[in-house]
Amino acid sequence: MKGLNMSPQIHTSVLLEETIKALAVQPGGRYIDCTLGAGGHAAAILEASSPGGQLLGIDADPQALAVARERLADYRDSVLLVNANFADLQSICFRYDFYPVHGILFDLGLSSLQLEDDSRGFSFQKDAPLDMRLNPEQTTTAADIVNTLSESELARLIKMYGQEGGGRRIARQVAMERPIRSTHQLVRVVEKAVARRRGRIHPATKTFQALRIAVNEELEHLEMALRQAVDLLGFEGRLVVISYHSLEDRIVKQFMHQESRDCICPPGTPSCVCGHRARLRLVSKKIITPTPAEIDLNPRSRSARLRVAARYAASGEYDSAAEKLCFSMAGEGGVWRRPAMLKKLRQAFLAS
Ligand SMILES: C[S@@+](CC[C@H](N)C(=O)[O-])C[C@H]1O[C@@H](n2cnc3c(N)ncnc32)[C@H](O)[C@@H]1O
Repeated sequence: MKGLNMSPQIHTSVLLEETIKALAVQPGGRYIDCTLGAGGHAAAILEASSPGGQLLGIDADPQALAVARERLADYRDSVLLVNANFADLQSICFRYDFYPVHGILFDLGLSSLQLEDDSRGFSFQKDAPLDMRLNPEQTTTAADIVNTLSESELARLIKMYGQEGGGRRIARQVAMERPIRSTHQLVRVVEKAVARRRGRIHPATKTFQALRIAVNEELEHLEMALRQAVDLLGFEGRLVVISYHSLEDRIVKQFMHQESRDCICPPGTPSCVCGHRARLRLVSKKIITPTPAEIDLNPRSRSARLRVAARYAASGEYDSAAEKLCFSMAGEGGVWRRPAMLKKLRQAFLAS
């Protein structure tokens, strides 16, 4: 894998070796990278899965996709790159007939490419229009949110998505100084509202995080995608998620824990009424985090947390042993098989 992560000017992939291990990448395997970015993880997956590996790469940002396409040019016959939101994961896989798979990766958040782009408005360090859309075709920008929400809605949003204690003060200052059009204008407003610097982080960090999450509906899309991902995994297929803040990580943790339990009835329920069956197995209960050496080399990796689970064929999920057998990813002679329930879902998708 040496040399694959040597483009720091583009984006240094986080927890690269740990990700390949967590995905249990194998030659001839089939993988989905839901957050292609600059293609660093994708390149490593393709290298580790050769010969015969296949990768479906998805990114909401067309610019990221263009960079990844160039980077993955050597693998052009083994990759399918799609400019889309991972919230539509299942329909993308149905459209391209790309399931079941051996592994699905989410490396959430932004790439350095986006943070360092002078025109996107993601970073408070660069003066730019207050945009923050991953895909320029989305209609709502950060400026729309800042300039149109009521003061109380804005305060709630900054508190909820930024985990910012000074949300109300910031919202009040924003309301007084609207319209706000640029990142640096917003930084000055936040600095007026809250202490200039608290600890190591800049006072605008949390407000920018909140706006980015809201503009791109990040948490809703993550929840939608995780639910779809489980169905697309073959037996023992791996789900790997790298998150960068506690709101994302909480969603991933709760999802993996819930999906790895047979009953999710509230504590104290005398006997199970939910009928829930585990569809995931936690591969490691421990969260995987970057080593001090990685953080030294790439400070942006410091908040990364990797969680991994494997698909589990629950008893009762299939009507018959034959159907369960179809859940195996490689059938006799290496032919890809699909469970009947996914076939039905795909037929419904194609007919719609
Ligand atoms: C941290 S970067 C991925 C970097 C990549 N793993 C690499 O090694 O180069 C995250 C990427 O996910 C994309 N992204 C974030 N949310 C998305 C979503 N809901 N749908 C599709 N792509 C998304 C961003 O545009 C960004 O390019």
